[in-house]
Amino acid sequence: METVLIVGATGNIGVSAVTAALRSKRNVLAIVRNQSSADKLIKYIGSSEGITFVKANVLSDSGVKGVVDQVRAGNLPSFQHVYSSVGGDYIPTPLQEITTSRLRYNFNTSFEANFFAYRDSIGYLLEQNNPASTWTICTGSQGDLATYPVPAMPQGALFSMAIAAARENETTNVRFNEIYLSYRVEVDELAVQHGVTKASEFGKVYEMILADPKVRSSRVRVDHLEDLEKLKYQRRF
Ligand SMILES: NC(=O)c1ccc[n+]([C@@H]2O[C@H](COP(=O)([O-])OP(=O)(O)OC[C@H]3O[C@@H](n4cnc5c(N)ncnc54)[C@H](OP(=O)(O)O)[C@@H]3O)[C@@H](O)[C@H]2O)c1
Repeated sequence: METVLIVGATGNIGVSAVTAALRSKRNVLAIVRNQSSADKLIKYIGSSEGITFVKANVLSDSGVKGVVDQVRAGNLPSFQHVYSSVGGDYIPTPLQEITTSRLRYNFNTSFEANFFAYRDSIGYLLEQNNPASTWTICTGSQGDLATYPVPAMPQGALFSMAIAAARENETTNVRFNEIYLSYRVEVDELAVQHGVTKASEFGKVYEMILADPKVRSSRVRVDHLEDLEKLKYQRRF
């Protein structure tokens, strides 16, 4: 049975990835910051079956590395797939009002943490050389719209990182893909309250990526609800 390492597993997008992994009969290795985040994930999913929790600080440049070291040491399950969706503030603060500490915090949560996740897990997947491996990141159209500059600017950096990772893995055993999401997704109970798309629905996109070996080194665009039923993907380099 395969395992998906999920970084940012307790957020709106992370919950969709956990749902997709479990629905596709895979186990999950979820990195959480503390027990209350782990409890939140169990509440959203309805069970902890199939999920191994590991505590780490993914904002630190040794957080994901420490988890991979524990996998290598045999203390945690081996994984074949990675999904990363760490995020920060979703606020409309205009540029001139963004404090230095808010800027740095958001580049740390929304860019650096996802970069560390890639940098410190890809080597393990390459070493394992499993031909079915994948590495997936979720970015958003805020990066192009920039109506919310705080979450938008780190997305711009993630776009570049995704192109580099897609190119670097064009011929490796790892199918790297970026999911570019153009509308709001939230965990199911909040999505119903706010009239937005449910994480469990959005999870279909990740299930289709896991199932389709043709989707590699691509941006998968999710602009409309019908994009949850059929993947729309394209290379960007
Ligand atoms: N939701 C959307 O509709 C949407 C659309 C387009 C793009 N995206 C992108 O997807 C990514 C995730 O979005 P999301 O809506 O899932 O965000 P979210 O619900 O706020 O979740 C963010 C994740 O990052 C973790 N995290 C945040 N701050 C942390 C910290 N200081 N230390 C440790 N972990 C921390 C959270 O852990 P805790 O649960 O412990 O807080 C959670 O797992 C973002 O980059 C966002 O731009 C989202």
